[in-house]
Amino acid sequence: MKTLTNKLFPGPIAMIQFDHMHVLSTYHQFHPDTRPSVKEGLVKTVCAAIEIHAQLEEEIFYPAVREATTDEFIKRSVHDHDELRGFIDRLRAIESTDPDYDQTFDAMIRLVMHHAAEEETVMLPEAERCLSPERLDELGAQMTKRRLELTVPRTGEIAGNMLRAMPASTIAMTAGALVSGAALATWLGRGRQHRR
Ligand SMILES: [Fe+2]
Ligand SMILES: [Fe+2]
Repeated sequence: MKTLTNKLFPGPIAMIQFDHMHVLSTYHQFHPDTRPSVKEGLVKTVCAAIEIHAQLEEEIFYPAVREATTDEFIKRSVHDHDELRGFIDRLRAIESTDPDYDQTFDAMIRLVMHHAAEEETVMLPEAERCLSPERLDELGAQMTKRRLELTVPRTGEIAGNMLRAMPASTIAMTAGALVSGAALATWLGRGRQHRR
């Protein structure tokens, strides 16, 4: 049944596409001459994003699609996820200074691109065709709640990775914004005291 609460959550199609875009845009910040600590932050950000995304798809989205249509491409997709988990294990086992680090990350991203393209051109249009708008809203709500459950225990790890992945200029800008925000808050607070 369509409920107002379900309508407040992003739909599963947009959520999946956004996750794919987030992984690829993070990868595009990775270059051979990037500092090893920044490389590690970028790789760990991508690995955590893939783990959460794959779990959401396997627990909620794929079973719903499987109920409505053939499961041939779902088998292929789960196989791709297992291969991606293998890459994640390998990347976690080597240092970002290791000569294999970049090659392993590039190979993992090639698989992500192939996998995401198949999902976006075959599975997502099929899901939109077979599942009712109400069912899609329901899946979006379930996936949003599950994402929170999976993300909250890893908040510190994810924030640390993102911070490490930021170029120094962005950190300086963020710090600058925080300092000026604090100064503004102090100034406003003083203004309020004067007006009392
Ligand atoms: Fe996906
Ligand atoms: Fe997937």
